[in-house]
Amino acid sequence: MKHFLNLSDLSAADLDHLLTEAARLKDAQARRIPAHSLNGRVVGLVFEKPSLRTRVSFESGVAQLGGTSLYLPGNEVGLGWRETLADFARTISHYIDALVLRVYQHATLEGLAAHATIPIINGLSDWSHPCQGLADLLTVRELFGSERGRTVAFVGDGNNVSRSLAVGCGKLGAKFVLACPVGYGFDEKFLTQYRSKVSPDVPQELNDPVAAVRGADVIYTDVWTSMGQEAEREERLRRFASFQVNAQLLAAAPAHCKVLHCLPAHRGEEITDDVMDGPACAAFQQAGNRLHTQKAVLEWLLK
Ligand code: CP
Ligand code: NVA
Repeated sequence: MKHFLNLSDLSAADLDHLLTEAARLKDAQARRIPAHSLNGRVVGLVFEKPSLRTRVSFESGVAQLGGTSLYLPGNEVGLGWRETLADFARTISHYIDALVLRVYQHATLEGLAAHATIPIINGLSDWSHPCQGLADLLTVRELFGSERGRTVAFVGDGNNVSRSLAVGCGKLGAKFVLACPVGYGFDEKFLTQYRSKVSPDVPQELNDPVAAVRGADVIYTDVWTSMGQEAEREERLRRFASFQVNAQLLAAAPAHCKVLHCLPAHRGEEITDDVMDGPACAAFQQAGNRLHTQKAVLEWLLK
């Protein structure tokens, strides 16, 4: 049984295949070529946290491929508290063909994957956001022709989004640099996993954003306070204040540098309006790519 929990579980060839398929699906969708690869299939979506992009792009993607989606609010299914993860997984496997989940704890996904007989797809956990990472890589490929040899400077938190992108870049030959305040970088657990599943050369951490963007082809940022970390918000606002992606930071990067953001953006915090709405920003192209990369994932898991 194939699941989609972390990009680190995929080979470079798998990743390349998914990106190639996503580009093909994007082109087919632009030409309105009807697709039927998910005919008769039902994809469930369980969300313990809010979402715009992940939920809507999955629901639309399933519909475009001829399947049906079923939205299940997290508080209704009660993962792990209304019934055990094992009982939930063994039951829902009889009803649907794949399950996308957005959860607080990554262990919830692992617990379900251990007992489900259908693919489990990570729609964001506290550990990783592989669907986002895949769309990020497709966007870099579109912007530069190839991700290989490009440099992504992630200015922000060592979080779910940056972990997945670091892994994807490492697998496909792009350089990834993390610029963050001391104490907010990748932890030893991640670096150990990176060494064993990606490469012995772990991503560089810099604590100076200007130094990090100097050779960057892409500057990437994400919120400073992720969902579930609300109690740390004031502290994080203080610690990350000098890591804002603004015109001054962008001016320190090469002229061709593009700006990405997984969204939603907290404008005025991690990124300014002028950068978000300026010519370097490709965040909405990137958001659009969620649709195509996830359709590729669904076909890869279900076809
Ligand atoms: N980037 C992303 O996952 O967006 P949502 O939280 O809106 O799904
Ligand atoms: N790091 C953010 C990403 C949101 C898409 C969070 O987990 O809230």
